[in-house]
Amino acid sequence: MPVTWFLTGASRGIGLEITRQLLESSSNTVFASCRSPATAFDLDALKSSPGTLHIIQIDVMDEISIKAGCSKVLELLNGTGLDYVINNAAINHAGDLAFSFDPAALAETIQCNVTGPALVTRFLLPSIEKSSRKVIVNISSPLASIGRDLGPISTSYSISKTGLNMLTYKQSRERPDFIPILMDPGWVKTDMGGEGAKIEPHVSVTGILNVATKLTSADAGKFYTYLGKVNPW
Ligand SMILES: NC(=O)c1ccc[n+]([C@@H]2O[C@H](COP(=O)([O-])OP(=O)(O)OC[C@H]3O[C@@H](n4cnc5c(N)ncnc54)[C@H](OP(=O)(O)O)[C@@H]3O)[C@@H](O)[C@H]2O)c1
Repeated sequence: MPVTWFLTGASRGIGLEITRQLLESSSNTVFASCRSPATAFDLDALKSSPGTLHIIQIDVMDEISIKAGCSKVLELLNGTGLDYVINNAAINHAGDLAFSFDPAALAETIQCNVTGPALVTRFLLPSIEKSSRKVIVNISSPLASIGRDLGPISTSYSISKTGLNMLTYKQSRERPDFIPILMDPGWVKTDMGGEGAKIEPHVSVTGILNVATKLTSADAGKFYTYLGKVNPW
């Protein structure tokens, strides 16, 4: 049975690794979106993989781009369902603090990390409704968690990911037939995570996909780590 996947931010980091692992199976069709397909060379190189890859242009900061990219996905799906939506693309103006943050950076971070995923999922709705799976994985962060008490760093980013957490809760309550969840990928060695991070992208992504493919309706609205543990709010 073919399985269909969509994700944002597939050009590098965790998104590229998600695409790479999914395409190892010929039963997966992946709609991998990125904001600049013309320069996404590592993503393009995955075209020879066993799975089916469609590269879609989406800038999650731009509603027109999101609408056009999602329409393209619906067109390619040709009336079949979309099983998994992974909202992965995000930015982090690391280093900003609660008493010195730049309001423009906060607005930009919320646009990218909350409004973007909300619109992506909204425009993909007709295809999610046609799936028997209906999984939405919103990639969050431990910095979204007040319970984890991670201190003053990355204020705008943390606010945005806490907003994404609430969006996911709302999605799960508005559509009890969907399985929207939050995923903490761990501290991962990517451009965002930095060299000092704890785990390699392949370790994080193996865990993310293991959790995602086992989700049931009882998991809707939960905040999981890539190891399948529940994060505190
Ligand atoms: N790495 C970690 O330790 C860590 C920890 C917790 C949570 N996360 C979360 O995991 C996810 C992936 O992070 P990462 O570490 O892979 O980050 P990354 O290496 O910085 O990659 C970010 C990805 O997001 C894309 N992106 C940024 N702005 C975009 C936009 N406006 N439109 C479309 N795509 C955009 C980038 O595309 P371009 O190539 O076009 O810039 C890139 O593909 C994010 O949601 C992040 O918050 C990461």
